Amino acid sequence: MIELDGVAHSFGEREVLAPLDLTLTERRISVIGSNGSGKSTFARLLNGLQVPTKGRVRVDGLDTRKQGRAVRRRVGFVFQDPDVQIVMPTVAEDLAFGLKHHGLAKSEIPQRVSEVLAEYGLTEFGQHPAHLLSGGQKQLLAIAAVLSVRPDYVVFDEPTTLLDLRNKRRISQLLHELPQRIVVISHDLDLLADFDRVLVFDEGRLLADGPPAETIARYIEHCG
Ligand SMILES: Nc1ncnc2c1ncn2[C@@H]1O[C@H](COP(=O)(O)OP(=O)(O)O)[C@@H](O)[C@H]1O
Ligand SMILES: [Mg+2]
Repeated sequence: MIELDGVAHSFGEREVLAPLDLTLTERRISVIGSNGSGKSTFARLLNGLQVPTKGRVRVDGLDTRKQGRAVRRRVGFVFQDPDVQIVMPTVAEDLAFGLKHHGLAKSEIPQRVSEVLAEYGLTEFGQHPAHLLSGGQKQLLAIAAVLSVRPDYVVFDEPTTLLDLRNKRRISQLLHELPQRIVVISHDLDLLADFDRVLVFDEGRLLADGPPAETIARYIEHCG
């Protein structure tokens, strides 16, 4: 469970998220809204990448302000642009780096890397230079790296925005199959049609919150 108590966020003088009380318990939650409405700020608050300027965020009781490291072990974060997430020269090395950083025993790393490569259809790319992968493969690698450390929650900030149709479908299918609790920021309304809950942000305020059909309709009516 992720709880936001009186959470608000400002950059300097400017409040980009108005005070918010929310309890997130559903397995698949989506966040939609116009550009600049505060979606990425909200997403970053959920795993402590950003600490709110007011109020507090707790993940399974852990406060992102005081227990940020523990929170980040629990909540993975996938950025829109996989290039910011891929840090090592080859695909296998990149996965190994994340696992090492997470604290997996050195002896267990090669086995886990092989498993993860197989799971995401990347086996043949293990020794491939990561920067030479296609956009879709890079996003898959970034997601695989986040999931390899087995987080309980995963936050995705526009995971399909930079992808072509085929890769959008591939990532969309992957999102639907994940057992983790997920929070997905997206402009792809089709992707969210069967989510459990949709939050609509507008200029830093929560405009709607509920099942996809009614919230998406409200979004289109108000922001379309
Ligand atoms: N690091 C930052 N410093 C100052 N302003 C920021 C920063 N990040 C985001 N903003 C501003 O906060 C507002 C919300 O941004 P963001 O959360 O990225 O919106 P969205 O993801 O919905 O496009 C925007 O007006 C943006 O310009
Ligand atoms: Mg954003």
